[in-house]
Amino acid sequence: MKFLITAGPTREPIDPVRYISNRSSGKMGYAIAQAALDAGHEVVLISGPVALPAPARAQLVRVTTADEMYDAVHANLGGIDIAVLCAAVADFKPAVFVARKIKKSAGIPMIELVPTRDILASLGALPEKKFLLAGFAAETDDLEKNAREKLEKKRCDVVVANDVSAPGLGFESDENELTIFLPDQPGRVLPRGSKSDIAKVLVKILCAAQ
Ligand code: C5P
Repeated sequence: MKFLITAGPTREPIDPVRYISNRSSGKMGYAIAQAALDAGHEVVLISGPVALPAPARAQLVRVTTADEMYDAVHANLGGIDIAVLCAAVADFKPAVFVARKIKKSAGIPMIELVPTRDILASLGALPEKKFLLAGFAAETDDLEKNAREKLEKKRCDVVVANDVSAPGLGFESDENELTIFLPDQPGRVLPRGSKSDIAKVLVKILCAAQ
């Protein structure tokens, strides 16, 4: 099968030296890419800026901003069977990019923010979607309620939820615990383990759901 996976954060520039971003190491997305490759699948990995080596045999597309990630995802949909949108895309970007460094001496700047485009929702809204669409939900509370809302609102086939308030899990960690939600099925917990072990199980579940 052919996977398209987004991973890592995006960066939304304020001026040449400053940006808005999200906490994300990219480790979960890269682990899913590696697990899919190890299982013999084809992978297009669309990655924001991370400090991780590119998985060998993945077709890696590097992007920086949410707009670039949106365009790269839409340009790489051809022939895919499963899309896993794992990236921590910035929800807001500065309304304008200031071409020269904003001087501290000019006082505290007011930075107007505008929403970025939601990549996951844009795929859910495609009229003739032939691939399985999996989104991620990083939540600090009401995991199941928020994950099920995301399933409906963004029209995904699968939502993979992680509790980012749990100590030692998620974000920069090498370990995670995930719950997988499909419509009309009870949540399936993948108990705490290495991101690489969890990714292997997730890849199997996604292939079975496709
Ligand atoms: O609504 P929320 O941002 O919590 O949704 C998270 C999911 O949506 C993740 O799968 C993330 O990759 C995706 N997303 C996206 N584009 C955005 C924001 C989130 O694809 N602009």
